[in-house]
Amino acid sequence: MQTAEVSEELARRVVDAVARALDITLTPDEALIQVSTREGVDYQANLAMSLGKRAGRAPREVAALIAEHVDLGGIAEPPEIAGPGFLNFVLRREWLEQRVAAIAVDPRLGVAKTTAPRRIALDYSSPNVAKEMHVGHLRSTVIGDALARLLRFAGHEVLPHNHLGDWGTPFGMLIEQLLDERHEGSRIEDLDAFYRAARRKFDTDEAFATRARERVVLLQGGDAETLATWQRLVDESTRHFNEVYALLGVTLTDADLYGESFYNPYLAKVVADLEATGLTEVSDGAVCVFPDGFRNREGDRLPLIVRKRDGGYGYAATDLATLRYWTAERGATDLLYVVGAPQAQHFAMVFAVCRDAKWLTTQHAEHIGFGSVLGADGKTMRTRAGDTVKLADLLAEAVGQAESVVAERSELPADAQREVARAVGIGAIKYADLSGDRERDYVFAWDRMLAREGNTSVYLQYANARIRSLLARAGEPEPDTPVLLDDPAERTLALSLLRFGEAVHSATSSYSPHKLCTYLYETAVVFSRFYERCPVLTAPTDELRASRLRLATLASRTLVLGLSLLGIDTPDRL
Ligand code: ARG
Repeated sequence: MQTAEVSEELARRVVDAVARALDITLTPDEALIQVSTREGVDYQANLAMSLGKRAGRAPREVAALIAEHVDLGGIAEPPEIAGPGFLNFVLRREWLEQRVAAIAVDPRLGVAKTTAPRRIALDYSSPNVAKEMHVGHLRSTVIGDALARLLRFAGHEVLPHNHLGDWGTPFGMLIEQLLDERHEGSRIEDLDAFYRAARRKFDTDEAFATRARERVVLLQGGDAETLATWQRLVDESTRHFNEVYALLGVTLTDADLYGESFYNPYLAKVVADLEATGLTEVSDGAVCVFPDGFRNREGDRLPLIVRKRDGGYGYAATDLATLRYWTAERGATDLLYVVGAPQAQHFAMVFAVCRDAKWLTTQHAEHIGFGSVLGADGKTMRTRAGDTVKLADLLAEAVGQAESVVAERSELPADAQREVARAVGIGAIKYADLSGDRERDYVFAWDRMLAREGNTSVYLQYANARIRSLLARAGEPEPDTPVLLDDPAERTLALSLLRFGEAVHSATSSYSPHKLCTYLYETAVVFSRFYERCPVLTAPTDELRASRLRLATLASRTLVLGLSLLGIDTPDRL
């Protein structure tokens, strides 16, 4: 089924009316259709005000002309004009009933696929080798994975790449440390402790420091033995990362690993090509580009360092090579980087330089930034001992906490309870991360994220499980029984279910998963009001019972599909 969203359909029809009535051509977006917050109004069009200016007529007059000319094709009642010139639409009951029935038999629940698929290189997770993943990487991983799912669902091609920090000068000391401490096949159980030990030795043991520096040269020169040891370090680290990914249920695999080292062979050429464009300057012995418009507080131009004084390449050079690789060699039309807000300027400068070098032309590049995870004290989250919080520990604790939440009420056998606790605990962490505007910081609080009331995944999971148990008792309704929207609570629920596609699209196009969270929460609330008012199993007639079962089924499927697009599981029973 291909059904345009209601707002899109209304927009098209309004724009047609404008063309006929005023001989002005607009794009559907310019119809300015919005979901209305007014009681008794479903949608509104806000274009008459700006159009009035343009046509030199009073906005209310323009609105009246549109109302007179618009052909709504049975979707809505003739619009009413309100205030300075708003056009208010109320969907027609019969149309709503038919549309909901159609969505209910569609596996995509009425969400159309894009007609203009893009090839999207998506940089997310991107932890650093020989360091534990911390909560910053949690955000990148969780937000990035939700975006990957949303974009794929929309019909785009997603090329995920995990930009591991696996290269650079610290690897000299890390390799020496591995050679000193470990034998073939031995494991590193604590990456942070390993890193700290290497750092301590580097700072205190002159001979070790010298070896470490020599080792960097060997690594960069491609010495086979050095590379083999380096690979062990990378493998040990990815083993840790993969444990976290498995527990989180993210879709990243080893095939998506494109660490900084991957771009190493491209760096010299990137810098040479950049020099050939005349964009580079040598400053303090380093090769730099000073893109327009970037200055520090003192007003000095800011450099993007592409080759350091010592001839080495750094983080910025690697990102230039990365961008060029995904556009030139992989044909990406979009480049998205899910990385914390502190790197905003870095990406802005990388994009500016790539534009100046004509490596970035028609492609869309965007830094998908996010705020920090804070502790109860409002500062960056730390353990009691003041260390950064390890992601693996945090996830284990989430599952543990969820176990007690589940055990309080569940009649499930113990092993099923553990599986459910995983879905609840991991879901809570993910949802807490996704449900707020990603650009904002948020405070990490177990009791709030595991609350059974309010905008939490637990609430949504319970809501769904309640519907599943209702359906288990009633049996799923026949797919061709008509949907009847008698009661206002039925109508409100139907309208909410109809807006799933709008919510998915707006979350996807603005890279804002929280918009889908808000929608799912509102839908669950609307469902519970419906369920309070409208008895399902004991409905007054068989027709109503069947219709309400269909609405309940669709509500459950909407929650399940919606949460799955956020990477959150929905157990049938809790
Ligand atoms: N490894 C980096 C960090 O932990 C993030 C890398 C982000 N991606 C990129 N292309 N720079 O901060």
